[in-house]
Amino acid sequence: MDDAVVARLRAAGCVFAEEEAALLIDAAAGDAGGLEALVARRVAGEPLETVVGWAAFAGLRIPVAPGVFVPRRRTELVARLAIAAAPRGGTVVDLCCGAGAIAAAVAHARPDLTAIAADVDPAAVALASRTLAPLGASCLVSDVDAALRHLDGTVDVVTTCPPYVPTGQIALMPREARDHEPTRALDGGPDGASLQREVLRASSRLLRPGGVAIVETSEALVDLTASAAVDEGLEAAVERDEELGAVVVVARRQALTSSDSSRA
Ligand SMILES: C[S@@+](CC[C@H](N)C(=O)[O-])C[C@H]1O[C@@H](n2cnc3c(N)ncnc32)[C@H](O)[C@@H]1O
Repeated sequence: MDDAVVARLRAAGCVFAEEEAALLIDAAAGDAGGLEALVARRVAGEPLETVVGWAAFAGLRIPVAPGVFVPRRRTELVARLAIAAAPRGGTVVDLCCGAGAIAAAVAHARPDLTAIAADVDPAAVALASRTLAPLGASCLVSDVDAALRHLDGTVDVVTTCPPYVPTGQIALMPREARDHEPTRALDGGPDGASLQREVLRASSRLLRPGGVAIVETSEALVDLTASAAVDEGLEAAVERDEELGAVVVVARRQALTSSDSSRA
């Protein structure tokens, strides 16, 4: 361990200075000049994940890059519920995919599924595409589901962690997020739920009867998220993982009844 690196990280306010120093030293791979550059970026406030180039998620290392949202561990709950909910050979669509962490976790755990991710940001899609291709999953540029209309009524599970910070609260976020992540990846509109409403509207079209949309939210927004699901004709349930600090709404499109199918 390089004590000088630990001391610089600690002085810059890094709580886990030893662990961070070990990760930076590993990322520099013996290049002293490279290590100095990485430490300087971290000390200047850049997220550790973009400095080392990856984020831990569901046991995987997801490649990340400056300018793209860093996947959070709490979002593992969305991936875990999708992995459990998707039927064998089914289709999972990840809307607002960012670096592709959810789709990567799903594709890694369930190679039987077709996993398709989408994001409006071409930089995120380029990054996610490189991560997802070796896992047999794909990624495309799309404003919510605009490029996915051909899947309407066929999708088993929609996963999503859309932006959900109320616009007025972005200024209160930690500097790492506020200064280093794109506003478009954070801003959920005046009440925080604008993008959640959009993805739930899209989900009501994309899902097959009985399919579910799994939407990350916050404790502050969970009632709004659930009502948005009900407004789109979906049945809403709430799931939590206290350890991850995660809360999600699971929104189900009603299954067809036998009288529906005999009428069809
Ligand atoms: C909070 S980040 C989450 C990224 C990823 N789901 C994750 O958990 O790491 C939200 C993402 O939504 C994308 N986004 C914002 N507005 C969008 C829109 N209208 N259509 C599609 N994606 C959008 C952003 O580019 C960003 O990558």
